[in-house]
Amino acid sequence: MNVLVTGGTGYIGSHTVVELLAGGHTATIIDNLSNSSELVVDRIEQITGKQPNLHIFDLQDKNKLAEVFKKESFDAVIHFAGLKAVGESTQKPLAYYRTNIDSSLSLLEVMEEYGIPTLIFSSSATVYGSAPIPYSETSVVGQGITNPYGQTKYMIEQIIRDVGAANAALQFTILRYFNPVGAHPSGLIGEDPKGIPNNLMPYLSQVASGKRKVLSIYGSDYKTIDGTAARDYIHVVDLAKGHIAALMNKHTGTETYNLGSGKSTTVLELVNAFSEGTGQAVSYELAERRAGDLPEYYADAKKAEKELDWKTNKTIADICKDTWNWQSRNPNGYSS
Ligand code: NAD
Ligand code: UD1
Repeated sequence: MNVLVTGGTGYIGSHTVVELLAGGHTATIIDNLSNSSELVVDRIEQITGKQPNLHIFDLQDKNKLAEVFKKESFDAVIHFAGLKAVGESTQKPLAYYRTNIDSSLSLLEVMEEYGIPTLIFSSSATVYGSAPIPYSETSVVGQGITNPYGQTKYMIEQIIRDVGAANAALQFTILRYFNPVGAHPSGLIGEDPKGIPNNLMPYLSQVASGKRKVLSIYGSDYKTIDGTAARDYIHVVDLAKGHIAALMNKHTGTETYNLGSGKSTTVLELVNAFSEGTGQAVSYELAERRAGDLPEYYADAKKAEKELDWKTNKTIADICKDTWNWQSRNPNGYSS
């Protein structure tokens, strides 16, 4: 298939482009490089022996988008592009609503204009907000979402469902990711956060590499096995493969799938697994809970296994090994 990948130089997008190319598909990327590096394309070529096309512009620019659709013919679109920092979204809500929603609307309009029926959209477990765990696709969504970033995911899901319901020829898939972590085993592509990381795994690996002094573990009095918060961590290569499985699945209308492992791991368990698996000490301190954090959540991942024939294969040990391989080879990310 000839696939358009928006945000394809980003963390999850780049791993998905690798899986697309490795699977014999072709990939064209649109990315404005606001949170990624052009070097990613060379790294993808080093892994796969193939270069994806890269168009650098803002997805909100509908004219440029239409030009790409006019020149190239796509079978499907995977839509990763958007702003994703939860904390920043509370400081700059307008930028989040404008960028995430506008770019999705432009994309859907141009897809309609050019008759492209298949879309896969990156949503997040954050849409489940305060629903009971484990989160299943039938759980209530939209209640207790704590930030504008999460609201944009919830709203775009709704837009996609409405557009999907208006035309029986469309095939839309919403993928709700749990906590994506890890890196490609080659160590050539991985997560490259700008500035001080907010998320656990990049922070932890920067402490291990000596770039940061100490990891603060937010909260040690949760009702979990060791008091620290628990999440469903999913290796980014498993996640990327989930997109290929979704691409191959034939259905009508809009389908939604959780992409998670179905298991929860506490912060302390992850820190210990990382130290054991890599031999790198991670110094940490127990700190106050972080505002807005939930004690524990994980996926009910049965629907994806049944309907997409997809499940995670990689372990927490793989996640730690591959994260460290990426971090130690690229201590400053793509600018190393
Ligand atoms: P990322 O920031 O690494 O990738 C997003 C890419 O989109 C970047 O390369 C960025 O430059 C590009 N981009 C942003 N705005 C753009 C615009 N207006 N026009 C063109 N390109 C634009 O993020 P990621 O971690 O790879 O996440 C990919 C998608 O998955 C995002 O939609 C994100 O919200 C969603 N998601 C991510 C996580 C996670 O933990 N990483 C979890 C759940 C959902
Ligand atoms: C957050 C977002 C989610 C997003 C995800 C990206 C919220 C409510 N959710 O999830 O929308 O998709 O990031 O993976 O913000 N932790 C520490 N020390 C740190 C950093 C994190 O102890 O320095 C803890 C957190 O308290 C949490 C766990 O590690 O319990 C995971 O945190 P993080 O990686 O930021 O992801 P989430 O908060 O689960």
